[in-house]
Amino acid sequence: MSTTVGGFLTALTARFSQAGIDTPRLDARVLVGHVLGIDPSLLFARTDMAIDDAQYVAIEKFAKRRLAHEPVTRIIGQREFWSMNFDVTPDVLDPRADTETLVSAILEQKQLFTGPVRVLDLGTGTGCILLAILSAWPEATGVGIDLSAKAVEVATKNAERLGFAHRAAFHVGNWCEGITDTFDIVVSNPPYISVSELAELQPEVKNFDPRMALEGGADGLDAYRSILANAGRVLKAGGKLGLEFGFGQEKAVTRLAQENGFEIAAEYRDLARIVRCVVVGIGSEIPAKTVK
Ligand SMILES: C[S@@+](CC[C@H](N)C(=O)[O-])C[C@H]1O[C@@H](n2cnc3c(N)ncnc32)[C@H](O)[C@@H]1O
Repeated sequence: MSTTVGGFLTALTARFSQAGIDTPRLDARVLVGHVLGIDPSLLFARTDMAIDDAQYVAIEKFAKRRLAHEPVTRIIGQREFWSMNFDVTPDVLDPRADTETLVSAILEQKQLFTGPVRVLDLGTGTGCILLAILSAWPEATGVGIDLSAKAVEVATKNAERLGFAHRAAFHVGNWCEGITDTFDIVVSNPPYISVSELAELQPEVKNFDPRMALEGGADGLDAYRSILANAGRVLKAGGKLGLEFGFGQEKAVTRLAQENGFEIAAEYRDLARIVRCVVVGIGSEIPAKTVK
């Protein structure tokens, strides 16, 4: 089969569009670029380049997976988060851009600390939150915990490949259970989808993200109950806890935090202006609540 990059991109975009894929042109560019080893943003300058048979077969294989609603990130096995590339496998949540809001929120707390700080990331997945924090906070070291042993393997490999192995350790665990150390920062983006909402998720999410990374029990709040009941024990005096949550969950999560003795320092909105995370602490140094 003889075709050019330009011809292939046009045909693939049309097929993705017909299949109801949200970003057909971008997805076509990323998949074609990945197979050809060309940065997708530079493909526009290579539209006359011929695609050989082996490349055609490889792109076609990827295209079929995308048409079955597998996310591009999972097909190429990598996701950019906080300007770093994370390996993504079927065992971990595909990191979301919204989660960068939690990273920014935690980095705003830097001014409250001097010297070395210890960070605990509960439900670490790819390790993206912990490693993003470490990348911007040279004095920080940390631990990532996940109930999934396979996720712990992925996070450990990401830390090694990105050069953080000497500052980050990853362990299998059930939220705060068995943790005897104390930390300056505790952070978590736990599963927060209620059982009844799971079936309504896009196929890209419900068929490809691990259920353990999504499901938060009958009301979506199980993980917050466990984390908030125990975080006071693993947080140092003056420490801060940052929690991400889903659309409309801020009131329930802040109420649970207050019931467990935490004071709300600030709530943060994501790029869509949705309140996406909260930073809480215990003690008199907590400023009056703000919404950013
Ligand atoms: C929403 S994902 C977040 C992953 C990653 N932190 C991110 O933001 O991309 C939630 C993570 O919590 C983990 N998890 C679920 N139940 C857990 C538990 N009881 N203890 C520890 N981790 C758990 C899942 O395996 C998953 O990796």
